Amino acid sequence: MNNRKTSHPFSRRGFLAAATATSLSMGLVPGSATAALKSAAPRAKPGQDRVFGLKFPPLDKVRIGFIGVGNRGASLLGNLLEIEGVEISAVCDIVSDRVKSAQRLVTAKGRAEPAGYSQGETAFEELCRRDDLDLVYIATPWDWHVRMAVSAMKQGKHAAIEVPAAITLDECWQLVDTAELTRRHCLMLENCCYGEIELLVLRMAPVRASSES
Ligand SMILES: NC(=O)c1ccc[n+]([C@@H]2O[C@H](COP(=O)([O-])OP(=O)(O)OC[C@H]3O[C@@H](n4cnc5c(N)ncnc54)[C@H](O)[C@@H]3O)[C@@H](O)[C@H]2O)c1
Repeated sequence: MNNRKTSHPFSRRGFLAAATATSLSMGLVPGSATAALKSAAPRAKPGQDRVFGLKFPPLDKVRIGFIGVGNRGASLLGNLLEIEGVEISAVCDIVSDRVKSAQRLVTAKGRAEPAGYSQGETAFEELCRRDDLDLVYIATPWDWHVRMAVSAMKQGKHAAIEVPAAITLDECWQLVDTAELTRRHCLMLENCCYGEIELLVLRMAPVRASSES
């Protein structure tokens, strides 16, 4: 069990484990899903704690490293360049022309040219190791998301991942565990958070982050 302070009788992991056990005992879970659900069992490590309410001082300038500047990445890069206080410090893509075109997009706005990384599939690790980034934005194909976000958080950066953040339960826990151990935020860039239905579901949720810490 994890040792988080909570006013709620169930932790998230406890709830998942209980739900899984109940479903398994009732024979509700098909065999193919069983292994995946078992991987949702509680497994918090010593020192691990939830990141709800984790706060950082406001930044005058947010320094961002981009991984993946294809359709979505390039489009969001354009949006971010319209925001004061955002600095694009580095850009990575396996296609070097895309890195160059992203660099041009930045300099065309009168900003300093970001460093470019395009030396292979793992060049993103070099970007994550930079010491002048606050956030790493990930807009690569799905199977790269978790590996890149984990690398960013382990290097002390917050990670923002395009949808879907992960594609298996085990990958979801990798993100949760890494955020909770490194004390960094990891967010999925869902762009439909404030619609009527999403806000309705939020209000229906029984546990509020503020009442748990
Ligand atoms: N939030 C939204 O509304 C929205 C919309 C479209 C796409 N997306 C998401 O954005 C992500 C990217 O989609 P896209 O349409 O831009 O795809 P895309 O193929 O146009 O872009 C992906 C980019 O990642 C690069 N890439 C691949 N592997 C890499 C690696 N190892 N290191 C560095 N760069 C690498 C590719 O060269 C490419 O330029 C996907 O996860 C997708 O689901 C979200």
